[in-house]
Amino acid sequence: MIKELIIASHNQGKINEFKQLLSPFGVTIYSAAELNLPDVEETGTTFAENAALKAEALAALSARPCMADDSGLCVDALNGAPGVYSARYAPNRNFDLGISKLLSELESTGNTDWSAHFSCVLALKIPQQPIRFYEGRVNGRIIKNRRGDGGFGYDPVFVPEGSTKTFAEMTDSEKSAVSHRGCALRLFLEQEFNV
Ligand code: IMP
Repeated sequence: MIKELIIASHNQGKINEFKQLLSPFGVTIYSAAELNLPDVEETGTTFAENAALKAEALAALSARPCMADDSGLCVDALNGAPGVYSARYAPNRNFDLGISKLLSELESTGNTDWSAHFSCVLALKIPQQPIRFYEGRVNGRIIKNRRGDGGFGYDPVFVPEGSTKTFAEMTDSEKSAVSHRGCALRLFLEQEFNV
């Protein structure tokens, strides 16, 4: 059983999410920053490749179990873009500008099918063991007008299948019940902690 886990992220929100989720199992969570571990560049072309790059690099440096994730929004009419570039797609990481860019690119395709999905891949690297991946996906569509103040990133224009609300109109627990990250985390808990 995993007793300690380094989260290969400098995003405090993600680290808190892992702390909350894993504290009932007696797992001590460390952030990469707490251990003075570097930020690893996402140079891969798939979510799994980027998650693996980060988890493997920090496991090699620390010789301890490491978890990394990579996620993003894939829009069918844009051939899967922004995908692994979802964070960089937003000018200056400003997601209001990122959403405007997304909507204007979608308008310019002339395609009225705005189907999209979010994906999240978690990579767990325990030294001397093969890397393990947990993947979550949520299908939905992009809407023309932003709705809601919750969440982050592209949440105000993403409506998951089976819902009338955008991710930004949902509570944290409503979102995580259906979200790509929630699904990947539940798979991780099932496999690693028999939950
Ligand atoms: P990363 O996984 O931290 O590299 O972030 C990927 C990017 O994908 C984020 O900066 C967001 O733009 C986007 N993204 C990932 N998950 C979500 C989500 O749940 N809602 C909205 N945007 C997301």
